[in-house]
Amino acid sequence: MKVTVVGAGNVGATCANVIAHNDFANEVILLDIKEGTAEGKSLDIWQTAPIDMYDTRVVGSTNDYKRTAGSDVVVITSGLPRKPGMSRDDLIATNAGIVKSVTENIIKHSPDTIIIVVSNPLDVMTYCAYLNAHVDSSRVFGMAGILDTARYRAFLADALNTSPKDIQAVLMGGHGDTMVPLPRYTTVAGIPVTELIAKDKLDTIIQRTKTGGGEIVNLLGTSAWYAPGAAAAQMVEAILKDQHRIFPCCAWLSGQYGLKDIYLGVPVKLGRKGIEQIIELKLNKEENDSLQKSAVAVREVMGVLDGMQLETK
Ligand code: LAC
Repeated sequence: MKVTVVGAGNVGATCANVIAHNDFANEVILLDIKEGTAEGKSLDIWQTAPIDMYDTRVVGSTNDYKRTAGSDVVVITSGLPRKPGMSRDDLIATNAGIVKSVTENIIKHSPDTIIIVVSNPLDVMTYCAYLNAHVDSSRVFGMAGILDTARYRAFLADALNTSPKDIQAVLMGGHGDTMVPLPRYTTVAGIPVTELIAKDKLDTIIQRTKTGGGEIVNLLGTSAWYAPGAAAAQMVEAILKDQHRIFPCCAWLSGQYGLKDIYLGVPVKLGRKGIEQIIELKLNKEENDSLQKSAVAVREVMGVLDGMQLETK
């Protein structure tokens, strides 16, 4: 099994590192446009193999897409990260052209691959990859929900002083401040979270989750990478191992939740063919209203992409 990670920045390199350490792929190609970066980081990662005892070969490449040929899964992390004061949407002008060109190169060399997009603004960059990949939407989707739920679960684990392993949650909507955490679908070892935490405390956690990426941008001056990289690696694992795991992912909707022709975070089942199923929850009015509001926000940025004249190579 071969995986390519495009972009050897913090998120891409972390993703490659986690994939390698979990030892489920034969080979990870890490590719970057910047001369020597992918090679250097790949060498460093590969040199952990004798220490951490895994076999996954990690190889770097400066923009040689031939090296990515025959990839089973490709993770696209390319593009600029946020700086303090920026929203994810501010990145569209720069990142759309990058994601378009990366997608075209990837599909040229791996026509059967599955593409996971991590670049921001996430929902719209996933749409951009889909527009340029010309493959079924079950093979092009985005990583955001695992990261956003991980933040929510981590905050809950702190507040409840429980293991994060026991916290299960679903979160929907766009990867931005309009995301929709769902307390009604949040449990701690099967116990509804609402039985364990006061409403005001839960509301504070939900608010912190929505701005969880920005919290890190403000602390570091750039966006997060450990959790985003690990989240994308978890999706790759579910696909390569055909695990049929259920995760919130950014998926193309064709009528689910009353939404059509939009990429948005929803629970999906992931396996060897990519998205095997989009799961439709019976949302109550308040939850559905929040989801529709999030869809409006994502559609607005999709409209910006549609209006851009991106050069075709
Ligand atoms: C975040 C970025 C990766 O949420 O979107 O940290």
